[in-house]
Amino acid sequence: MKTIAVLGAGFMGNAHIGGYRRNHSTNARYSAVCDNNREKCDAFAKEHGLRAYYDLDDMLAREPIDVVDICLPSHLHVDFSIKVAKAKRHILLEKPVAFTMEGARRIFAAARENGVRIMIAQVIRFWPEYQKIREIIQGGEIGDIVTVYAARLGQMPTWGEWYKDPKVSGETLFNLTIHDIDYLHYLFGEPESVYSAGTKDKMDNYNDVMNIFKFRNGANAIVDGSLSMTPGYPFTMHFRALGTKGTLEFLFKAGENIGPDSTGSLMRYLPGKGGEILDVPKYDGYGREIEYFIDCLERGTDTAICTEESVLLVLSSLLKAKESLLIGDRCKF
Ligand SMILES: NC(=O)c1ccc[n+]([C@@H]2O[C@H](COP(=O)([O-])OP(=O)(O)OC[C@H]3O[C@@H](n4cnc5c(N)ncnc54)[C@H](O)[C@@H]3O)[C@@H](O)[C@H]2O)c1
Repeated sequence: MKTIAVLGAGFMGNAHIGGYRRNHSTNARYSAVCDNNREKCDAFAKEHGLRAYYDLDDMLAREPIDVVDICLPSHLHVDFSIKVAKAKRHILLEKPVAFTMEGARRIFAAARENGVRIMIAQVIRFWPEYQKIREIIQGGEIGDIVTVYAARLGQMPTWGEWYKDPKVSGETLFNLTIHDIDYLHYLFGEPESVYSAGTKDKMDNYNDVMNIFKFRNGANAIVDGSLSMTPGYPFTMHFRALGTKGTLEFLFKAGENIGPDSTGSLMRYLPGKGGEILDVPKYDGYGREIEYFIDCLERGTDTAICTEESVLLVLSSLLKAKESLLIGDRCKF
């Protein structure tokens, strides 16, 4: 049994603890929350039955916790993760790990030097439909994958002012499209090249970006990401894989964000059989990634689903996509 504190009582802090509890998980216990916005922190603590702290050093000194679940704005990930590592607490860190390779490497080095474990919360690797798609592709049922279309579309988050500053949010690529780019690397391994094109919004953010990845295994992928969709357009996740023997397609539409009014289905198309809706187990992806991390800590096993190597590979691809976007040309790896 491990004890966890949430750092950041915002949207993701709620999604993490909510998802963990929705899954009825029992291998850890959330005991505390820390947020420098006292009002938010107190409300979160009350809602979830936690002790409230307004300062990380104070929480680390006084709260007997094993793990800090870091859900802070992205530009704070490096400094706060290193601080938590130095306090000898394990770390679950929201994506993106960092905006630079140097920042990411410093985090992993701090974890190693202090003898603690870290996992980056790349949640799509734990999302039920995406887990099912990977299982089917790896089983060879739809043959070799030729082309993928992956999209994640919505509006700029309304709950955090920091999202509006490109240096702090990382724009669509590091903020939203990271999920699809991460998943494609999980499926196909190393890319060969990327070509990205996009437009800036009124806030000077590249928040509408289209990327074409070629992978070394021969698959091509269009990755479409937007936080500039027309108000009212539902938050959308779309993944279609065309294989030499069949096609899989997952289409998910939510309200403004993922919630009870969301609808989605995963379809399989095989020659002579038409389309078929597939059964997918229902669990919360955020809850599942936390269960997995705690389980790895308890057993002393590697976080094989989400390794340091995979995180660094995805970050280097995001940086290449950004380079391609800025120079307007294809970039090779
Ligand atoms: N995996 C996903 O699906 C997903 C979705 C949204 C956001 N995220 C990631 O989660 C992270 C948090 O995003 P969010 O939407 O929850 O942001 P948010 O603005 O809702 O929450 C961040 C919280 O951190 C607090 N905070 C800021 N500075 C602090 C400090 N110095 N000390 C203590 N608390 C501080 C803020 O008061 C706020 O409550 C980001 O890295 C984002 O990229 C992931």
